[in-house]
Amino acid sequence: MNTGLKMSPARCFYSLLQICFLALISSDQSVYGTQDWPVPYKRFDRRPVTDPYCQALYPFCPTGDPDGRIPYMRDSDVISVFRLQTPVWEFKYGDLLGKFHIMHDAIGFSSSETGRNYTMEWYELFQLGNCTFPHLRKDTAAPFWCNQGAACFYEGIDDEHWRQNGTLEKVGEMSGEQFNNLARWVQEDNETGIYYETWTVRSDPGLNSTTWFESYDCSQFVHRTYRKIKELGAKLSSRSQTNYTKIYLYSGEPTYLGDDDSIFGQSSMKALATDIREFYHSFQPHQSMIQFILSLMEAYKKVVLEKTFYLYYNFEYWHLPMKAPYIQITYEEVPLPH
Ligand SMILES: *[C@@H]1O[C@H](CO)[C@@H](O)[C@H](O)[C@H]1NC(C)=O
Ligand SMILES: *[C@@H]1O[C@H](CO)[C@@H](O)[C@H](O)[C@H]1NC(C)=O
Ligand SMILES: *[C@@H]1O[C@H](CO)[C@@H](O)[C@H](O)[C@H]1NC(C)=O
Ligand SMILES: *[C@@H]1O[C@H](CO)[C@@H](O)[C@H](O)[C@H]1NC(C)=O
Ligand SMILES: *[C@@H]1O[C@H](CO)[C@@H](O)[C@H](O)[C@H]1NC(C)=O
Ligand SMILES: *[C@@H]1O[C@H](CO)[C@@H](O)[C@H](O)[C@H]1NC(C)=O
Repeated sequence: MNTGLKMSPARCFYSLLQICFLALISSDQSVYGTQDWPVPYKRFDRRPVTDPYCQALYPFCPTGDPDGRIPYMRDSDVISVFRLQTPVWEFKYGDLLGKFHIMHDAIGFSSSETGRNYTMEWYELFQLGNCTFPHLRKDTAAPFWCNQGAACFYEGIDDEHWRQNGTLEKVGEMSGEQFNNLARWVQEDNETGIYYETWTVRSDPGLNSTTWFESYDCSQFVHRTYRKIKELGAKLSSRSQTNYTKIYLYSGEPTYLGDDDSIFGQSSMKALATDIREFYHSFQPHQSMIQFILSLMEAYKKVVLEKTFYLYYNFEYWHLPMKAPYIQITYEEVPLPH
């Protein structure tokens, strides 16, 4: 098997790592006739403070305003909008998974009145590993997640960073007034959408497949923002195809299992609680990327072998009866809204 990898330090570590799992039981699947798919991503009234157990190795949004303030633009200003994309990983894993485009996405803004420009992105507070896999702690029965993600807005666009092997393209213009409205929306979105979700879960790769769960990550933030910009009345267009990384799991209809209290707080659920802990046991969020990738390889093999995945979504667990092709990382077109 030919494994070659190359990485650059970046946020939104949208990687193969995410391909991790492991599995234990094959629990029975009950039929859920009434569930609507995809399961809606849960919004919260406000963002809670993070647990002190979660300690960021790299500070989140170091050059952004500490209170997340976004500068006010004059109504008459003309703000250019840039599509920003940069590779995070280039990864080859034999013929099994092919070559991936694992990209990080962001949006740039530039004021024609002040000449100042800004970058806006959404990413993990404690890096990708912590958003994809929980910690198993001796003193807590339930796996412990450090999975918050948030928006970061800061002054400057590092042209070189985005342009080199990535994308820096102007895709539209908006008025200062539209920008100020967008800023309010971003702050609200940031306050209510608080955790990162790596996986998109679908029934199969076909066009008419059912999506069971949508991811919630840097590129989803970018798509939401583009839709909002369009809704505010600005036009966006790109000269080239606008492709994004998606990380898929494929499974039959998921089964709802419960939340931390119902699974880990009741002795009658002990078997399931143990299975979930064991599932995540090999996937403690590693500090080293190499370690992480190695366990990822193991994980892929295990999912193929055991056909089980325990997904954590909206702070609840679901059982996924995994099926071929199990996992895929795609780089597919999502057109700008028009
Ligand atoms: C992941 O979370 C653990 C537990 O808080 C922390 O020690 C570690 O630094 C975090 N990893 C990164 C890369 O931030
Ligand atoms: C989003 O929330 C995070 C975490 O509270 C905060 O650090 C950041 O400044 C906020 N960003 C915006 C643009 O409001
Ligand atoms: C952003 O501003 C910096 C500093 O003025 C400049 O070097 C860079 O080219 C600008 N980038 C864009 C995309 O406007
Ligand atoms: C861009 O691609 C070239 C050629 O593959 C490579 O040498 C260079 O390191 C890449 N730059 C970045 C920032 O990844
Ligand atoms: C998808 O569903 C539509 C409407 O039910 C149908 O017309 C179309 O042929 C289906 N496409 C595929 C690829 O199955
Ligand atoms: C971009 O997406 C389209 C359609 O989803 C695909 O055909 C194309 O190969 C992708 N481009 C790259 C560079 O992967």
